[in-house]
Amino acid sequence: MVFKERQSRAKGVVEDNRLMELHLYPGNRCNRDCDFCTVFGTPKGWAIEYTAEHLDATLASVMLHEKGALKFYGGEPTLNTENTIWAIAYLREHGFKGAMVIYSNGIKADQLLQILESDPLGKTTASLNYSIATGDGAPQMPQSSLRKLEAYERENEGAIAIGHPDIVDSGRGVDPFTGEETRPKVNHRCPHCYPVLRTDGQYHACPFAIENSAPHFQLGTVTDAPAKVTQNFTTFLNWIDTVHEPYAAEHDLPACTVCWKNLKELPVPEYK
Ligand SMILES: C[S@@+](CC[C@H](N)C(=O)[O-])C[C@H]1O[C@@H](n2cnc3c(N)ncnc32)[C@H](O)[C@@H]1O
Ligand code: SF4
Ligand code: SF4
Repeated sequence: MVFKERQSRAKGVVEDNRLMELHLYPGNRCNRDCDFCTVFGTPKGWAIEYTAEHLDATLASVMLHEKGALKFYGGEPTLNTENTIWAIAYLREHGFKGAMVIYSNGIKADQLLQILESDPLGKTTASLNYSIATGDGAPQMPQSSLRKLEAYERENEGAIAIGHPDIVDSGRGVDPFTGEETRPKVNHRCPHCYPVLRTDGQYHACPFAIENSAPHFQLGTVTDAPAKVTQNFTTFLNWIDTVHEPYAAEHDLPACTVCWKNLKELPVPEYK
């Protein structure tokens, strides 16, 4: 395999009320509908474009220096290449110096490479869907796409990584998953992901549970002060450690199953 996995960075880091990482989510419209998809990706899914208001809120809530990172996912970012490239340019023009990562299934390889090449700082990289890159658990991407992406990675080492093989019970979840039995599926501990700004203006606490509208995940909106949103995110992580995880352990449930099926039994975090 040409593509390598990336190490994840420190969790929950907030500095001067700015998050070290933020996910950007423009909806679940996709050119695939994987049977395990955490966001219910589908060609009939919703899509709202990035706007200046949305990106201004992004710039106010993430670290702008080299340590900051923005992660574009969906849905499939290559289905609206023009808007994704516009968003990257806007963020650079307005002072964001950190890394950007495009999560993609890689099928539209030319568009993905166009997005990576558009970053004037050359610090936008891709992370491929493990199942679609390998064909384990989903139909593999076309060989022509795979060859283009492999060639690019050989020329630009580190530009295209492969995602983790783990499958969590979120969205369509683990039950219909047809990949290798050996791929990790059950974990009592939440991975403590960074939150998400959705293009409908909502800050949501978890990229895996992004289509779950329970009040437990609602950190605020683009009209709230960024400090409120980041403080609410810290409150969410404390709630995960002190309320959610003990419940998952006591009932012997995977962490993400608790978020999908048992949240009604858990109090909402005490948000501002
Ligand atoms: C939701 S997809 C969106 C971006 C793009 N369509 C893709 O597939 O990479 C983002 C990442 O979530 C991963 N993912 C989807 N469902 C998952 C699940 N149930 N457990 C763990 N990761 C999952 C995908 O493999 C992909 O790496
Ligand atoms: S995992 Fe990615 S490619 Fe598969 S349906 Fe979900 S969003 Fe689409
Ligand atoms: S346990 Fe809940 S908050 Fe943590 S990753 Fe899973 S769905 Fe998200």
